[in-house]
Amino acid sequence: MIMKNIFILTGAGISAQSGLKTFRDTNGLWENFKVEDVASIEGFEKNPKLVHDFYNHLRPQMLSSMPNKAHLAIADFQKRYSDGEVNLITQNVDLLHEKAGSREVFHMHGRIDECVCQHCQKVIKTLSDVSFDMPCPYCRALKLKPNIVFFGQMPMFMDEIEKMLRTCHIFIAVGTSGVVYPAAGFVMTAKYYGAETYLFNLEKAENNFYFDHQVLGKASETLPDFLENI
Ligand code: APR
Repeated sequence: MIMKNIFILTGAGISAQSGLKTFRDTNGLWENFKVEDVASIEGFEKNPKLVHDFYNHLRPQMLSSMPNKAHLAIADFQKRYSDGEVNLITQNVDLLHEKAGSREVFHMHGRIDECVCQHCQKVIKTLSDVSFDMPCPYCRALKLKPNIVFFGQMPMFMDEIEKMLRTCHIFIAVGTSGVVYPAAGFVMTAKYYGAETYLFNLEKAENNFYFDHQVLGKASETLPDFLENI
């Protein structure tokens, strides 16, 4: 048996068919909000209320949305595959991979159901609205921030991700435009270390050059068959 480790990176496109907006498609989130206002550390320090309102608006939609066939196909694949590791890294802050049954999901940009206290660094489970004048339940400081990685911050799990990229044999990106680093650079690292690389996206991605195979279309229609036959 030849060991084959699989690295799966997902982006907002995988959740589009679950009714969640992507960022850069037509009518995407960044068409109606300025990234620097609601997804940067400077924006948060300047106007924390605007940022909390933005995520308070997204949170109920994300928490009530349901996984689609692409999320379910990945969860089934993780359970079934035994010829190596399957590492699932998502840029998404929704919990659709978990709802589909995926176990270990690396949320490199954080999660919508958590807040972090910028004073004591404790992470707090957050299923309803949060505001800046809510005291931290641990240290009482008024420093709660969505546990989401803003532009200008280092994404999470980067050490683990680096190791997984070096040892993966198949790299699969699903529903991501390949615009935002470091995630957009993962395919280059995987390729450098010898992986075969696949893109499952509605259209060609910015970092298309690094994909050996591009399967264009809706992920819920293209990904399940592919994972059935790896
Ligand atoms: N199936 C497959 N791909 C899809 C689908 C679908 N049903 N619908 C849209 N897509 C593709 C789009 O063509 C687009 O290339 O998903 C991609 C989504 O790209 P973005 O909106 O840029 O989302 P993403 O790549 O996840 O953004 C990365 O940017 O703003 C930050 O932190 C934010 O995590 C996010 C990061």
